[in-house]
Amino acid sequence: MAARCAEQLNAHKLEVETAHGVSAHVFSLDLTAEVGAADLHAQIKAAGLSVDILINNAGFGRQGEFVERSLEVDLGMIDLNVKALVADDMIEQGSGKILHVNSTAGFMLGPLQATYFATKAFVKSFSQALDEALRGKGVTSTVLAPGFVETEFAKAADLEDTGLVNGDGATAESVAQHGYDAMMAGKLVTINQFGLRFMINCLMPFMPYRMKLKMISKMQTKA
Ligand SMILES: NC(=O)c1ccc[n+]([C@@H]2O[C@H](COP(=O)([O-])OP(=O)(O)OC[C@H]3O[C@@H](n4cnc5c(N)ncnc54)[C@H](OP(=O)(O)O)[C@@H]3O)[C@@H](O)[C@H]2O)c1
Repeated sequence: MAARCAEQLNAHKLEVETAHGVSAHVFSLDLTAEVGAADLHAQIKAAGLSVDILINNAGFGRQGEFVERSLEVDLGMIDLNVKALVADDMIEQGSGKILHVNSTAGFMLGPLQATYFATKAFVKSFSQALDEALRGKGVTSTVLAPGFVETEFAKAADLEDTGLVNGDGATAESVAQHGYDAMMAGKLVTINQFGLRFMINCLMPFMPYRMKLKMISKMQTKA
């Protein structure tokens, strides 16, 4: 497990080890840093570990008009949501499974979260292309695209009081299980909720772009 907060990582380590009788390794680092992902890779190697399953989960969003927002925050978002993704050791091993924790944002247009939606569109495209290139080498790549999930995300993204955060989000546990099962089955893309799957696959392709822009803009406007 990798994240910035060492205290929370160590708490999760203890929880996993106690519940499942396994050894968990935690790496406390900032993946937005210039060398964040490379640093994580080096630390994994130095610990004598190899990666069979890679879950790229770390990411954040931020509500607001693009022109009024901090460029620094948006560049940090691109660093974390996009640039920290790539890992190639699995090809040498000849096996591996990758889960990209993406978002339904990757399938939509993103007024009031322009950069976040664009980073997720990158991940959606990248993961599927990676799967096509690596499947023959024993490595699969799955896109998990959830809707609203009850985590710290909405608060960090300043999305509270918007239509996106409607109080009946999925639990992190149910989304994690859904994504894990899809990854183990080698699925290309999975959306955790039926209603969202229907909207994205069956309704949105037939809606005019301007209508979609206005709909998403309304959903992301604060009350
Ligand atoms: N919650 C939703 O509604 C929702 C919906 C669709 C998709 N998603 C996606 O789900 C993923 C997980 O988000 P979440 O909902 O679990 O949000 P969260 O509760 O805010 O968790 C984000 C995780 O990423 C880690 N992280 C953030 N910045 C980092 C950095 N610079 N370096 C290393 N680790 C970092 C955080 O740990 P530290 O703070 O300790 O670093 C934390 O473990 C994201 O990719 C998000 O885009 C979320």
